[in-house]
Amino acid sequence: MLVLVKSDYEELSRTGAQIIAELVRKKPNSVLGFATGSTPLGLYRELIRLHRNEGLDFSKVTTFNLDEYVSLPPEHDQSYHYFMRENLFKHINVDRRFVYLPMGMAQDVAAHCDWYEEQIEKCGGIDLQILGIGANGHIAFNEPGSSLGSRTRIKTLTGTTREANARFFKKSEEVPKYAITMGVGTIMDARSLLLVASGEGKAGAMQATIEGPITAMVPATIVQMHRRATIILDREAASKLTGIYTD
Ligand code: F6R
Repeated sequence: MLVLVKSDYEELSRTGAQIIAELVRKKPNSVLGFATGSTPLGLYRELIRLHRNEGLDFSKVTTFNLDEYVSLPPEHDQSYHYFMRENLFKHINVDRRFVYLPMGMAQDVAAHCDWYEEQIEKCGGIDLQILGIGANGHIAFNEPGSSLGSRTRIKTLTGTTREANARFFKKSEEVPKYAITMGVGTIMDARSLLLVASGEGKAGAMQATIEGPITAMVPATIVQMHRRATIILDREAASKLTGIYTD
């Protein structure tokens, strides 16, 4: 596990984007796993800049997102479909035919989850999966207690996650109760992982993830078992680490 502590959010975002850009240049038909939430926004802005100013080409890239709220249609402004379109996809030359996100409106959720797993496999697996982390240690919507071998499925969001995400909705009651999420096992199958964490609110979860014992109660701790995982933190998110890490 490579742990990089950067001086601030901008540097964290630039470093993360460089790792992705390097992969896309080396393997133009890469399969990228994307995350939503506020943390990767800077990284997406930097990818957009690299596309515009340096011609970073996404035309052959395939993308899979980690998760989507159940019951939100793709056009809902809080859906992750909308988030990805607005914050990344419409600004780069990704081919919409190669973009996959779980469908929150799927009629048969279990069948849809199986289909999603099959698509990942058909595309040859994910080369690089971007991850954020919840203050409770969740990755994607794998909340504490999620099986570390889990696959894509429906999960009930915890009260703390719904509260944390209420900031994006008009009323807290509007935050969906369920999400479709890649499983911890699905994430661990990616050939490489890039976990980004920013701010003091993530410091406890990052200390547990990097220095704590592996436990389903902090799903992100499983990243310790991955052979090619990079974690990038800013100083605040790294403030509870006791070891010495590179910058
Ligand atoms: C989003 C996701 C979540 C977020 C996490 C952190 O696709 O999978 O696990 O990464 O909740 O969210 P932010 O970055 O908003 O703190």
